[in-house]
Amino acid sequence: MKRIHLSPPDAGALERELLLDAFDSNWIAPLGPHVEAFEREFAESVGAAHAVALSSGTAAIHLALHILGVGPGDEVLTSTMTFAATAYAITYVGATPAFVDVSPETWNLDPDLLERELAARSRRGRQAAAVLSVDLYGQCADYTRIVEICARFGVPLLEDAAEALGATYGDRPAGSFGECAAFSFNGNKIITTSGGGMLVSHRRDIADRARHLATQARDPAPHYQHSEIGFNYRLSNLLAAVGRGQLRSLPAKVAQRRAINGRYRAALSALPGLQFMPEAAYGESNCWLTCVTVDPHVFGASRETIRLALEAADIESRPLWKPMHLQPVFNRFPMAGGAVCEDLFERGLCLPSGSSLTVDDQARVAAIVTAACAESHSPAPSFPPLPDHVDQAIWEVRL
Ligand SMILES: Cc1ncc(COP(=O)(O)O)c(C=O)c1O
Repeated sequence: MKRIHLSPPDAGALERELLLDAFDSNWIAPLGPHVEAFEREFAESVGAAHAVALSSGTAAIHLALHILGVGPGDEVLTSTMTFAATAYAITYVGATPAFVDVSPETWNLDPDLLERELAARSRRGRQAAAVLSVDLYGQCADYTRIVEICARFGVPLLEDAAEALGATYGDRPAGSFGECAAFSFNGNKIITTSGGGMLVSHRRDIADRARHLATQARDPAPHYQHSEIGFNYRLSNLLAAVGRGQLRSLPAKVAQRRAINGRYRAALSALPGLQFMPEAAYGESNCWLTCVTVDPHVFGASRETIRLALEAADIESRPLWKPMHLQPVFNRFPMAGGAVCEDLFERGLCLPSGSSLTVDDQARVAAIVTAACAESHSPAPSFPPLPDHVDQAIWEVRL
């Protein structure tokens, strides 16, 4: 039986055809017709006015912070429950991350804590330079609250939508909140170009500047001339071709991941002490990863026992993101709250969720999780009746 991965790439004939088209056209460069078409098609799919194709989601967050003028000495408030790249990008511009706990109802940035932190900074007379929200595991943060809070304190909002392409908040797509948003096309994401990212914005000035800076900040001149520091952050035309193919199947991929989530719920919801990541009523997650928490005292086995049982059957699963404020590299930075995400990290597990996961493979995963629970709840071994002359303890040892 083949290994079941957490979220492997899911690409087919169309991607291959477009990739070969890019190759045969000799646009084997970080520019070309597929880059332009990918940007147009992507902007349309997320309802953004502008999209800039980049070499990674990390590059997109970095450029967004840079363009918004965040720099040394500044603070950026962000969710602690995320992948390290969110916080790395803040340090690339010389700023300091200040972490905020998540809400138990959404596992995303807690709006009440965010409000409290912005109010405290306002009183101190030194406001944060930006808020960087994260749409965790494919579920949007609570943007009605977050957008209003940021606007009230006059702090620009950036959206790290790396995991949430295809998700919605109300009738709006992920990535349409804030000044700009970043998406990732890393190999494990809902669509992939092997590596890549997109910066989207409703503002032309941000998109134009991102394109300029990402192309080594080349001034318009026949020779190479540079008036500021640039970056080599553009997406290859070959990879953009793959991305175009992937984008066409995005609605099917979202439907497939949501169906996988539904099947896990049907198979596992009744297990004692196991709970699914809540889906907030305000939107629809793309269910990038299906995540559960396990109460070891009720379930009878810990998250780690389940993970190891899956691994023994050649099935990949992962603990939830280790919160940033617990990471050795970030543990000296400010943190607001912490009890919710620390508990999630302790008890949370991401299950295989790739859009190519077959029903049979998913049944294998569910059977192992169920067995981990059943083993711990099976009745204690019963012993045959005790002959009068035999000591109970000896009898049991012999058995
Ligand atoms: C929340 C989050 N932010 C940022 C990134 C970085 O994206 P990339 O790997 O494309 O640089 C990722 C994923 O890799 C992510 O999950």
